Amino acid sequence: MFSFRERSVKLYLFIILIIFGDVSSISFLSDDFIISVASKFAQLIGLPKPIPEIMEEASLEATSLIRKYGYPAENHTVTTVDGYILTHHRIPHGRNGKLNESAIPVLLIHGMNCESTQWFDNGPESLAFVLADEGYDVWLGNTRGTSYSDHSTFTRDDDRFWNFNLDEISEHDVAPLIDYTLNITGFSKLLYIGQSMGTAVSFYIFNTNSEYNEKVAGNIALAPALHLKYSTFLMRPILQLNEQIRYLSNMFNKHSLVALSPLIKKLQLIFCPSDNPIICELSMSIAVGYNPYLRNMTRVPIYGNHCSAGSSLNILIYIAQCINNDEIRKYDYGKSENLKIYGSEFPPSINESIMTVPTVLIHGANDVMASPLDVEIGKKKLQNLVDTYLLPHPMAMHTDYMFAKHGKEFLYDKIVIYLRQLWKQ
Ligand SMILES: *[C@@H]1O[C@H](CO)[C@@H](O)[C@H](O)[C@H]1NC(C)=O
Ligand SMILES: *[C@@H]1O[C@H](CO)[C@@H](O)[C@H](O)[C@H]1NC(C)=O
Ligand SMILES: *[C@@H]1O[C@H](CO)[C@@H](O)[C@H](O)[C@H]1NC(C)=O
Ligand SMILES: *[C@@H]1O[C@H](CO)[C@@H](O)[C@H](O)[C@H]1NC(C)=O
Ligand SMILES: *[C@@H]1O[C@H](CO)[C@@H](O)[C@H](O)[C@H]1NC(C)=O
Repeated sequence: MFSFRERSVKLYLFIILIIFGDVSSISFLSDDFIISVASKFAQLIGLPKPIPEIMEEASLEATSLIRKYGYPAENHTVTTVDGYILTHHRIPHGRNGKLNESAIPVLLIHGMNCESTQWFDNGPESLAFVLADEGYDVWLGNTRGTSYSDHSTFTRDDDRFWNFNLDEISEHDVAPLIDYTLNITGFSKLLYIGQSMGTAVSFYIFNTNSEYNEKVAGNIALAPALHLKYSTFLMRPILQLNEQIRYLSNMFNKHSLVALSPLIKKLQLIFCPSDNPIICELSMSIAVGYNPYLRNMTRVPIYGNHCSAGSSLNILIYIAQCINNDEIRKYDYGKSENLKIYGSEFPPSINESIMTVPTVLIHGANDVMASPLDVEIGKKKLQNLVDTYLLPHPMAMHTDYMFAKHGKEFLYDKIVIYLRQLWKQ
């Protein structure tokens, strides 16, 4: 058991973390003033000047960024039943290709705090570009909370905007996007690739709505979230307080989690310059683990800026519940609420006999959120496991699926082989 003192320290840390997300909204100083002071301070402590080209990429809107690399890009806006307006992105063909009506659609769903840009943040050697050049029709989803999401009634500053959980993301954002993609492309099945939260979403959909098992020809799960008990996430000691966090979140009616404002993003660029991104490296390590060997340090400001979309506190609480429990269940509202919502004191767990989509699990030896032991235990929940593939680097971690140097050789050529195999099945 933790001592009271230890618990209080953790709780304070956590509260600071939440408040940090709101610093800019309570600030009475103008953004320009804060940025000019920050720039002078960065100069004073000898941080290198940000590289303009990297700054540009970090702040470019998604379709402009895709076009910068010579690929065609489209916006597709889908409104959810509960009022979120989501803009998804599409790269319909490769750099030298033409529109091909029979190009197979592949849908990519990002991880928590990131957005569609995570799939083309690695310059020419990004997964989305490799797939487009291979002749796939590449669809890149954006879930609620990303900077490509709005709401018909709530602004992003309104805490109600952030009151959502993984089941809403799965049922209202991603499942309808599968239907939308099939409808536009005229296909009856598509291929799915998710990373981290993107894998949790796919498992949730296949498990709760069995008809989607027929709409997805194959699932490639990067950092699969099938079991989280042996996660070595550094935030884990704080997350053990999930009950208290849920209680506080309800008490203060506070649902957003480090919703990074444009100001914080600009500050991030000043304090995390290329080639010396110590502060960003540190915060990334706390959040997702450490592996400097596969990282292109020049591009760290881009990764930091694109993977700070903000998220819901409920999702963090949910992750905490998954880590603290022996198995992954639906969100735990507490016994009495669970009885009302699920008809039982405990939330339902994954039903192993339902998920029949042919699946490839890809994971890293040093992935703190999808530890090898969890992958080993979790894969038993799949009816149709095609293969398990360990990334070919001993320190491969949670973001290397997207950001590893020489990504094509490192992983994407392998993904293309798996996609062909899954489509044939
Ligand atoms: C996509 O939408 C964004 C935001 O509205 C806009 O800036 C961009 O030009 C659009 N891209 C395309 C290709 O229409
Ligand atoms: C169009 O896509 C299909 C399916 O991938 C492929 O078999 C065909 O060769 C492609 N056609 C062209 C002209 O690229
Ligand atoms: C499918 O697309 C057609 C037009 O192409 C549209 O009328 C219809 O509402 C769409 N259905 C869904 C479920 O999106
Ligand atoms: C690292 O990123 C920079 C800036 O985009 C790029 O010029 C360089 O080629 C990249 N290096 C590797 C090994 O990918
Ligand atoms: C799991 O799903 C199967 C098939 O839909 C069903 O027959 C079975 O009762 C379910 N098991 C549980 C524990 O819900």
